[in-house]
Amino acid sequence: MAKTFFVLSPFLLIFSTLISANPSQYFSETLAPSSLGLKQEKLTHLHFYFHDIVKAKHPTALKVTQAATTNMSATYFGAVWMMDDPLTVEPELDSKLVGRAQGIYASASQSEIGFLMVLNFAFTEGKFNGSTLSILGRNAIFSTVREMPIVGGSGVFRFARGYAQASTHFFDVKTTNAIVEYNVYVFHYY
Ligand SMILES: *[C@@H]1O[C@H](CO)[C@@H](O)[C@H](O)[C@H]1NC(C)=O
Ligand SMILES: *[C@@H]1O[C@H](CO)[C@@H](O)[C@H](O)[C@H]1NC(C)=O
Repeated sequence: MAKTFFVLSPFLLIFSTLISANPSQYFSETLAPSSLGLKQEKLTHLHFYFHDIVKAKHPTALKVTQAATTNMSATYFGAVWMMDDPLTVEPELDSKLVGRAQGIYASASQSEIGFLMVLNFAFTEGKFNGSTLSILGRNAIFSTVREMPIVGGSGVFRFARGYAQASTHFFDVKTTNAIVEYNVYVFHYY
């Protein structure tokens, strides 16, 4: 018995060393920020117009569901919309496109029109092309300025934090189509 163990143990030692050297076995390690190329954090201000087109030949926002009681609610409580809204540099829809707002807004207040906003700004312009910012916030659409947190980002916006301020530039009561001005302030590294 003892002899068998003595003979096998060098083999077991080598075997276990090979396992711990395999990078797929890492769960956690502490890194210097410079190892990911993170140097000075910078602050960027983005300014654009968001076009929420609900009633048109080609709508960019669709109501995808609502509660049985939504029709009896003055605030559309329980209704959920999916958007793929263009973002442009000027208020005009045919001005330069810089990205799209893709995600969900849902009526989450029974006392005023207050939307839960869960969306990504997917940018297509310049150094921001292919990068995203993720928003999770509250949008009381009849307030002059609504502030929503930026909870993260990708690409040049990795490690992003900040806030977006929305103010209505145009709202058509009949169609509910809206043009919303956005000022976004974001800390990021790249
Ligand atoms: C709510 O109203 C819309 C439009 O008036 C109608 O199409 C829909 O069937 C109604 N939904 C319910 C659940 O009553
Ligand atoms: C953005 O990136 C995509 C994919 O790489 C590319 O096809 C497109 O031309 C780029 N757009 C701009 C405006 O640079």
